[in-house]
Amino acid sequence: MLPHKLIEQSLQRAASAVLPDADVSAILVRPCPDPKFGDYQTNALMSLAKARRMNPRQLATDVLARLEVADLCEKVEIAGAGFLNFRLKDSALANALQAAARGEHLFFDPAAAARTIVLDFSSPNVAKPMHVGHIRSTILGDSLSRTLRLLGHRVITDNHIGDWGTQFGMLLVGWKTLLERAALEREPLSEMERIYKAISSQCDPDKPGYDAARHEAARRELVKLQQGDAENLAIWREMIQLSQAQFDAIYGRLGVQFDHTYGESFYHPRLGQTVDDLMSRGIARESEGAKCVFSDGTRPPKEDPFLIQRDGEWQPNPQLIQKRDGGFNYATTDLATIAYRLEIWHPQEIVYITDGRQQLHFQQLFAVFQRWHLEMAGKLKLAHVWFGSILGEDGRPLKTRSGENVKLSELLDEAEERAFRLVSEKNSDLPEAERREIARVVGIGAVKYADLSPNRQSDYVFSWDKMLALNGNTAPYLQYAYARIQSIFRKGDIQSPASGMPPGALTLSAPEELALAKHLLNFGLTLEAVADEYRPNFLCNYLYDLAGQFTRFYENCPVLKSEGSTRDSRLVLCDLTAKVLKRGLGALGIEILEQM
Ligand code: ARG
Repeated sequence: MLPHKLIEQSLQRAASAVLPDADVSAILVRPCPDPKFGDYQTNALMSLAKARRMNPRQLATDVLARLEVADLCEKVEIAGAGFLNFRLKDSALANALQAAARGEHLFFDPAAAARTIVLDFSSPNVAKPMHVGHIRSTILGDSLSRTLRLLGHRVITDNHIGDWGTQFGMLLVGWKTLLERAALEREPLSEMERIYKAISSQCDPDKPGYDAARHEAARRELVKLQQGDAENLAIWREMIQLSQAQFDAIYGRLGVQFDHTYGESFYHPRLGQTVDDLMSRGIARESEGAKCVFSDGTRPPKEDPFLIQRDGEWQPNPQLIQKRDGGFNYATTDLATIAYRLEIWHPQEIVYITDGRQQLHFQQLFAVFQRWHLEMAGKLKLAHVWFGSILGEDGRPLKTRSGENVKLSELLDEAEERAFRLVSEKNSDLPEAERREIARVVGIGAVKYADLSPNRQSDYVFSWDKMLALNGNTAPYLQYAYARIQSIFRKGDIQSPASGMPPGALTLSAPEELALAKHLLNFGLTLEAVADEYRPNFLCNYLYDLAGQFTRFYENCPVLKSEGSTRDSRLVLCDLTAKVLKRGLGALGIEILEQM
């Protein structure tokens, strides 16, 4: 078992002995924020004391008196208001590393209670090119799914594509009147976008080019589609097929897979009954001919998503579930979708990954759902994982020079092209095919990492030079750190670094060895933090620090030139660092190279 888990167990046993009726399962340790104070820390005794109106330092003292961690830790210290700080003995550290070298673990354990988690991400819209706005959802969602799976959870990924709705009325009119077949064959999404833009500008009563007849035609085509008109259905299916092929090409390049792509249209047959049910339960009501859900007054106005402050007063801000003309809303589909997912997958958690502009939608959606399915209270966690915008170097939302949305496929082309130029400068002697493969892994990795490493809720500036830099918190830097370790093994002709090392033979003494070993030990805690808060940037920072620790170790501790058990131990440190880099990058969805 990992040392921090052993410490937790001892802590919980000791706390139970002091407070026999307390729930001690929340007593956990975390890495110490400052290594000066130790390796691990717990603050859980303070909340336990607070809840019982006890003196926290006294509780810490009592627990400490019963704590049995002498074989793992140096003397345990009480700090501040009642923290306990733990410092691992070097021998405990070495044992943990040797267990990892034997393949018993890679510094993490599968989750004690595996959960079923639905991840709803990417979700582009049919007949529109995927743009950089969808990239963050795709990349974040994919890395969360990989991390959660690594921790042993049952993850179901569902791409909720926008394949239904009013835009199809306009697309159908455009398809029938403006479509150029040759252009469609060349670049289907651009052609569909062109006809959509042409018609939609004529269907907006607020725009100068408004054409009432066109607007009416679009409405009629939509009704025909919804009523199952064979011609319109066939065109609609073709649009979906063409779009899906383009989406799949991007997913293929990004290495992203979905378990399901139900899409909004799948739920269409369920929307009527969803609205009826909400009406008959009194959750929704009619207002000006539409059907909406209003505040139920159970939350303070500030926390109530159905209220909005206007001119200093709280006004109703309902969620629409059926329009006056009978059409359904985005929210209606999402409500039916939750119900369906519960019915077939029985998840404990559904996580949506979209940009921050949809926050209100999801706050309202979750609140409506809670009122609708009271029996799920406390059994289902609904989470909206939102993210900020990608900005150009001018600090404004990223656009092409002509002001268009940047297309994802072109962005990835450019990433690979730029990486290819860099690789060719450095390794002009490698055959072109090899340079292209390195450029693919580095270019795509760089784009993904640039997206994952900032706090997801802040906007970030998209900079090619920064994301492709070999120095700094970038994918190429980490990929290079991995490849460099592999080159040590090649140079020393070492096949399996840990083999033949007798138990207890691993020694750690140099401060850089100890620091690197301790950092390795935090891999699992980092993965758990990513899963708890849906923040892959924790893992990026961890890996970046790991590469830094490794560099300090490698600069100060000769590996191939050392001898005996020192050499063996250092080779193990190299090997475990490489393994953690590989797994960690893998959890981010980033590939590695054996040679760069
Ligand atoms: N298609 C939507 C968009 O592009 C995102 C859908 C997110 N998922 C959901 N269940 N609402 O904005």
